[in-house]
Amino acid sequence: MAEAKNNLDAYKISHDEQVIDTTRKMRVAIIGTGWIAESHIASYLKQPDVEIVAGCDLIPGKAKAFFERYGVEGVKTDYASHKEMLADKSLNLDCVSVCTYNRQHAPCAIDALKAGINVLLEKPMCVTLEEAVEIRKAEKESGKVLSIGFQPRFDNNMKMIKKIVESGVLGKIYYIQTGGGRRRGIPTPFGTTFIEDATAGLGALGDIGCYSLDMLLNAVGYPKPLTVTGYKSNFFGTDPNYVGYGAHHDYAEKFGVDDFAAGFIRLEGDIILDFRIAWARSINTPGDALILGTKGGLRIPSTDCWNGSIGGPLVIYHEVAGVQTETIIPVQSTNYGLFDMKIRTFLDASKNGTAAPVPSSQILYNQAILDGINKSNAVGHEIELEIPEI
Ligand SMILES: NC(=O)c1ccc[n+]([C@@H]2O[C@H](COP(=O)([O-])OP(=O)(O)OC[C@H]3O[C@@H](n4cnc5c(N)ncnc54)[C@H](O)[C@@H]3O)[C@@H](O)[C@H]2O)c1
Repeated sequence: MAEAKNNLDAYKISHDEQVIDTTRKMRVAIIGTGWIAESHIASYLKQPDVEIVAGCDLIPGKAKAFFERYGVEGVKTDYASHKEMLADKSLNLDCVSVCTYNRQHAPCAIDALKAGINVLLEKPMCVTLEEAVEIRKAEKESGKVLSIGFQPRFDNNMKMIKKIVESGVLGKIYYIQTGGGRRRGIPTPFGTTFIEDATAGLGALGDIGCYSLDMLLNAVGYPKPLTVTGYKSNFFGTDPNYVGYGAHHDYAEKFGVDDFAAGFIRLEGDIILDFRIAWARSINTPGDALILGTKGGLRIPSTDCWNGSIGGPLVIYHEVAGVQTETIIPVQSTNYGLFDMKIRTFLDASKNGTAAPVPSSQILYNQAILDGINKSNAVGHEIELEIPEI
């Protein structure tokens, strides 16, 4: 089992009710000012104890234009690289958001941790297990906070799934099934960084697969994955007639990642994980997420695209006084922004030196599964995972 316990339950109150100490400002920078950086800056700007002091992007002028668009003044952006920004001692940085494409997650996170800065790293943690291990080592050596950007963790339905498992109503868990995704929905919002191997490294697996894995692995306590049989394909992304690329005829040539992946994974504690994810496939849904235990089962209705929540009420199948019965758990509302909570909990952990809200000790196992699916697919048979204890 992963040793770290997340502290999300401390956040039962809404964001508005939290008293924030504004006497100590957190000095924040953003690496990579593309699409997701928009959500980071929007949330940072709502925090009364944040000063955004720097940012950088590989594309010259992009970071400057980004901060100007948000009307944030005095932000230093004239850096040739993220390394140059991290080395600028005049910034006195407390925190950095790593919002680069997947292939640049590991170098940026490691460099920031080595510079003694707390890191909020976008999901997926990185591309390979080896990178994840290096990130963990840098985190440990730095003593800084590293949180991984899984904002669905803050959704009350996700918390409810975990509470149901922890209540014991399902008994001992022996099988979990998760995944889903889209019938058609390869993301190309601002170009090809999601679909090229050189930038993304992982396709649907890294984009939405990591979320659906996190939903159930977190619920059952993040048992260590032991073996993986993986499969991946990209029949849709590489098809020049794919409907969705519009006028971008060269997108099919550039497509270098998975648009469908599946895995059969053995977890510590005699739990089987059955997983599949898609950006495109020949069916609407591959089925709901399921948790089967010795005393009961939980059905989690799937969503159209994996948007970080559930597609309808949860259903517990159990036996009451010898009668096979069902209990419906209504959809829970969440009265705060999930992204705001991701930023706020990261800031609080950084400020107080407390545990990361979404710890890398857990997400290391998530990453090991993504990587294991790739590696098993490459060799064409089941592989054993060797995950070093860090
Ligand atoms: N949490 C979420 O809801 C969510 C949603 C979308 C994307 N994401 C994640 O965010 C990451 C970025 O996605 P995106 O859609 O913003 O991509 P994007 O391509 O729009 O933006 C990435 C930016 O990073 C820059 N960059 C890359 N390496 C850099 C480096 N070393 N230094 C400085 N800048 C660098 C690129 O030039 C680009 O501008 C991905 O890993 C993705 O999985 C998360």
